[in-house]
Amino acid sequence: MIKFAREIKYRLFSYLESLRYRGKDNRETFQKIYQNRLWGDSAQQFYSGPGSHDVKVVDPFVNSVLTFLKSLPNAPIVIDLGCGDFNVGSKLLPACQLYIACDVVPELIEHNKVKFANNSIDFRCVDIVKDELPKGEVVIIRQVLQHLSNADIALVLPKLAAFKYVIITEHIPVGNFVPNLDKPSGLGIRMHNGLKKDSGVVITEPPFHFKAANVQTLQTTICEDQSQLVTWLFKI
Ligand SMILES: C[S@@+](CC[C@H](N)C(=O)[O-])C[C@H]1O[C@@H](n2cnc3c(N)ncnc32)[C@H](O)[C@@H]1O
Repeated sequence: MIKFAREIKYRLFSYLESLRYRGKDNRETFQKIYQNRLWGDSAQQFYSGPGSHDVKVVDPFVNSVLTFLKSLPNAPIVIDLGCGDFNVGSKLLPACQLYIACDVVPELIEHNKVKFANNSIDFRCVDIVKDELPKGEVVIIRQVLQHLSNADIALVLPKLAAFKYVIITEHIPVGNFVPNLDKPSGLGIRMHNGLKKDSGVVITEPPFHFKAANVQTLQTTICEDQSQLVTWLFKI
């Protein structure tokens, strides 16, 4: 009975979120989110949210990824899918030969090109769901899949087979939960979709069954609300 009520509530919140983005593709959806500053209050014109700025979550991620990148025999070409305001990506540059930072929001990409102009960064407007991905050795997808519907995630994942290493960060509940409950692409994530600690994206679980030669948890940060940010490293 409780499970049934939770399911109904989840579907209701998903439906309400889908109304917000009705008729919009991912570009328009995320453009609106930035235009209306829905990732949070900030004086910045483009702000990707506290998860991209809070040093308590950003620094441990950056340190673990830098350690991994520096462990590779040569500085790699890194592809960042959904680079956002680039506060996080900018800190990884010292370990990269070239950093190709992609996002679906064209104005954000133009803004980043001016703000972070540097020979070792290439900013590109790419819809990771619809477009071909740039080529490189390492791909980073940090707190992006959590905003996408299962149908959109399923279109992204096969493209990751082209990389040697895949680094994925997701905001998920702590403890037992049913992974990958669906939601429309947009602002909300599966944990906050009306039911706190409800679900989260785990790509190795159904319906995705993402396969890799090796998977390890690179880094975990427990948040104040007992949720967690988990970064996995997949060797393809
Ligand atoms: C929460 S932000 C995370 C930004 C950055 N990865 C970080 O960790 O700071 C999610 C970003 O994913 C981008 N995004 C969402 N859907 C996308 C798509 N289909 N293709 C490319 N970028 C997308 C959004 O525009 C937004 O900038």
